[in-house]
Amino acid sequence: MINYTKQIAEKIAKAVEIESKEIENYIEIPPQSDMGDFAFPCFKLAKTLRKSPVAIAAEIKEKIETDEYIAKIEEKSGYLNFYINNEKMVEELLKEIEAKKENYGKCEENGKTVVIDYSSPNIAKPFHIGHLRTTLIGSSLYKTYKYLGYNTIGVNHLGDYGTQFGKMIEAYKMWGKEYNLEEDPINKMVEMYVRINNLCKEDEEVLERCRENFRLLEENDEYCRNLWEHFKDLSLKEFNKIYDMLDVKFDSLNGEAFYADKTDEVISILEAKGKITESDGAKIVDLEDAGISTPCIIQKANGSTIYATRDLAAILYRARTYDFDKCLYVVAYEQNLHFKQIFEVAKYLVDEKYYKGLKHVSYGMVQLPTGKMSTRLGNVVKIEDLINETISKAKEIITNKNPELEDKDDVAKKVGIASIVFNTLSTTNNKDQIFDWNTALNFQGETGPYIQYTYVRTKSVLEKVDEIPQASELDYSVLTDEASIKVLKSLYAFRETLEATVERNEPAILARYLIEVSQNYSNFYNENKVLLEDKKVQDARIFLTYAVGIVLKTGSSLLGIKMPNKM
Ligand code: ARG
Repeated sequence: MINYTKQIAEKIAKAVEIESKEIENYIEIPPQSDMGDFAFPCFKLAKTLRKSPVAIAAEIKEKIETDEYIAKIEEKSGYLNFYINNEKMVEELLKEIEAKKENYGKCEENGKTVVIDYSSPNIAKPFHIGHLRTTLIGSSLYKTYKYLGYNTIGVNHLGDYGTQFGKMIEAYKMWGKEYNLEEDPINKMVEMYVRINNLCKEDEEVLERCRENFRLLEENDEYCRNLWEHFKDLSLKEFNKIYDMLDVKFDSLNGEAFYADKTDEVISILEAKGKITESDGAKIVDLEDAGISTPCIIQKANGSTIYATRDLAAILYRARTYDFDKCLYVVAYEQNLHFKQIFEVAKYLVDEKYYKGLKHVSYGMVQLPTGKMSTRLGNVVKIEDLINETISKAKEIITNKNPELEDKDDVAKKVGIASIVFNTLSTTNNKDQIFDWNTALNFQGETGPYIQYTYVRTKSVLEKVDEIPQASELDYSVLTDEASIKVLKSLYAFRETLEATVERNEPAILARYLIEVSQNYSNFYNENKVLLEDKKVQDARIFLTYAVGIVLKTGSSLLGIKMPNKM
């Protein structure tokens, strides 16, 4: 399909002899439709061309012409307003959707590689709502990049390393028989950890044994290694339950432990480049020159490496293994300093191509409204509990609305999860966010269930006809009323929306777009009857309805939301 912005930019670029890439950046979508579909603010060129915006507008207008895509060009107070040929747009769009179906908007492989590091919970600790945003933002970006043709590698950088495992091993040695880990693995492991930790505070000898266990673990001692594997397996089993429910996938589970034997190389590279200084026995990289007042610790005085060292080893590894163009870290803003530091140190480890591709996709906090869940479980709310509670609330609502509905459990699951996913993803990354069931589960609000509800409505309209008409046989002119055109323009913008989503690493852009499409369709549906005597009009509106269903379903799947057929 034609890209209007690009096409318009090229016309203007030719007229003024300026790079069309630059022009493209200036093209806007006017706030009101009576100002055209696209506008070019000529003042952007006033400096370069040394002319007034009005004069520039007049000059460009002289030199460019309308074509089959652009129906009208107007100049108005220093702006050029472009009106597209709606019928042509409708024709292109509908034929494209017919040809591509659920692959509408998808791109061919583009040869670029993106590594996305997300979710990354800590082993033997609860998977709590603090991990919800990284899991969902990361997973949605993963799906969207893939859809746009990137070679995408999803990494779960598990927190599976550290001295706490020395303690866990000791706890297991001492009290393993008392705990049935299989039954409720994470809670039991947390209990064991709290207990041994308290004991360590009282008993130096126990603490010493824990340290020894960790040392043995580092040396790959069989007993310690097996136990550690066991803790890891138990944790992953729990995590996988949630990943399955949320449809979250990874290509690699290389967590911190994987890098434990790869940190020596990091240290020696930094040493060889003279970047390491000693400070109270520790090895650090001073970052003062880069404007970061806290140095990056590479090795503690006792010789052990830290979280940052393993992240540096991971950068080196990912550059070599994946040869990435971008490497994203979807991690809460609490770690802003950490990423600033390691990205700075990465300049000494990898080529420019790689360190320039590193990006921290930082996000704010999630809060539950005070109430049942937050008080019942203390401040740690497990994702699993949140999901289950939401699904049961969704089931209540659905049962009230539609007592006859079949497969209520399946629908409740899809609706409940959609409400969590949408609520999580519709907030821009940098804002904190509140999770509130009344808001998230409102079928009429700006929510996941509202998008599903709109989709279900398209389905029920389509059920009333025998078949979807052929796009090439439609009379496009009957779809040029305001309500229809609004829907169709929004469908046309699908690809652009996905591109903006990955450009800014903001699934909120896609989430809001899907609300807009839903609202446009609801508006269309209120203004226009779909089933009519006039077959020509009916066919066109049926096809529009079909097209809306495709975009809602495909777009939602990229957020991680599944569509019920009825609700
Ligand atoms: N495990 C860490 C945490 O829960 C997050 C890890 C993020 N990824 C990374 N490469 N540092 O805080």
